[in-house]
Amino acid sequence: MKIATILGTRPEIIKMAPIIDEISKRGIDQIVLHTGQHYDKEMSDNFFRDLEIPTPDYNIHVGSGTHGKQTGLMMKGIEEVLLDEKPDIVLVQGDTNAVLAGALVASKLHIAVGHVEAGLRSFDMTMPEEVNRRAADVTSTMYFIPTEESAINLLAEGFSRKNMFVTGNTVVDACFRHLEIAKKRGIGEKSLSELDIEHMDNILTLTMHRAENVDDKHRVMNIIGALKELNDMNIIFPIHPRTKNTLQNFGLFDELNNMEHVHIIKPLGYLDFLQLTSASTLILTDSGGLQEEAITLNVPALTLRYNTERPETVAAGGNILVGSDKDVILENARKILDDKEFADKMKNAKNPYGMGDSAKLTVDAIEDYYNKGLLNIAAPEHIMDSFTRKMTSIEKDITVGEFEEMEKALIRMVFDGEKMRFPADDLNLNGMLITYDERE
Ligand code: UD1
Ligand code: UDP
Repeated sequence: MKIATILGTRPEIIKMAPIIDEISKRGIDQIVLHTGQHYDKEMSDNFFRDLEIPTPDYNIHVGSGTHGKQTGLMMKGIEEVLLDEKPDIVLVQGDTNAVLAGALVASKLHIAVGHVEAGLRSFDMTMPEEVNRRAADVTSTMYFIPTEESAINLLAEGFSRKNMFVTGNTVVDACFRHLEIAKKRGIGEKSLSELDIEHMDNILTLTMHRAENVDDKHRVMNIIGALKELNDMNIIFPIHPRTKNTLQNFGLFDELNNMEHVHIIKPLGYLDFLQLTSASTLILTDSGGLQEEAITLNVPALTLRYNTERPETVAAGGNILVGSDKDVILENARKILDDKEFADKMKNAKNPYGMGDSAKLTVDAIEDYYNKGLLNIAAPEHIMDSFTRKMTSIEKDITVGEFEEMEKALIRMVFDGEKMRFPADDLNLNGMLITYDERE
């Protein structure tokens, strides 16, 4: 079996590293293709070093550009590599342009696509990420889904649960493994060691790069207004290159940089960044990955967005959506900083993203599919299932697996009163309403 991984940005490298490592440990043939969307060493090369994975076999150097141009160039480059390498499955991760390009190209070549971190939805189609993740899900064969809630998103869109694997998120694998390594190594980057975070109280880690925030001067000004008033905190801001550019273009970079309690530094490598976040009292961010890492590291998070495709973090109590409204940001920050009980509750929120074995579960499922011949993409031989869709309520003890076996059925949706449940094989259906397809 040959597995091809496509990645292009910082979070993809971090979240695919545990899977690349697992594939390599099992001696499975693999290639890694970098699209070159992120190219600064602080956004790319440093992560291969810190996460101890080999540099990619291919880099198609697409660089920055408009979405259409960037995605088009990626598609051309990815197609050439896949035609040459002929992998059995292509893995894409998350919601960047690499995911869109990789999933489209592979599926058109009839190569199976595995979408890692599938099923997330912000329901906001103005976000490029929502377009990318939805398109990738439509063209994927296997879905590696962080939580049951995200799996239910896919069920509601009509995807078959047979191809869904609730694995947790590989960011937990990366976090758990590298935090220990980081602590033993100590701080590497001079800009961070000079701040002496080991002896610093009240650290607030700030990251932001989301287009809807940093490309909007009004929103940026509101956020800066809140930061100005949080002057009892040490705000450490490893700045994303996109954000640096737009702050400079808006003429706001100097105002922020001149605040004594704000420390703007270059983007950090993964080991340094883990040490910074784990030492923080509060995380203020619009990053997807950081919302997940905050709850993994037991640090309260305030998310500078009005929606999130990670609602589990909010439901668990570890994350609050504050948008870009100065007063809302300040009110919630003050609660966390001044009310110990409130802060402790947020810290103790249960991590919904698994135990750090996500990469193992993902590669287990891929090997199983390969061994069963399920990675071969072919046109369906039978009429579609739409004429055989049924609904029934179950009044006896029977699990999903038993029901499907007995009725030769595929369960689609399960309703437990008003709540939807994910039809895991061992779920007892007694008292629930189900929809299912009859199979021949
Ligand atoms: C991309 C992803 C976003 C992800 C983020 C992770 C898409 C649509 N967006 O956003 O989902 O959350 O990566 O960080 O795929 N730049 C540099 N050096 C680099 C990379 C970028 O200077 O190495 C600058 C360029 O000016 C570029 C801008 O940052 O135009 C934006 O980069 P781009 O890759 O288009 O989007 P991100 O904002 O990084
Ligand atoms: N990160 C990092 N150094 C930094 C900032 C972030 O290593 O200076 C890591 C962070 O730990 C997380 C990931 O980058 O795992 C998030 O990437 P980003 O915010 O760029 O993208 P998103 O997750 O929003 O797609």
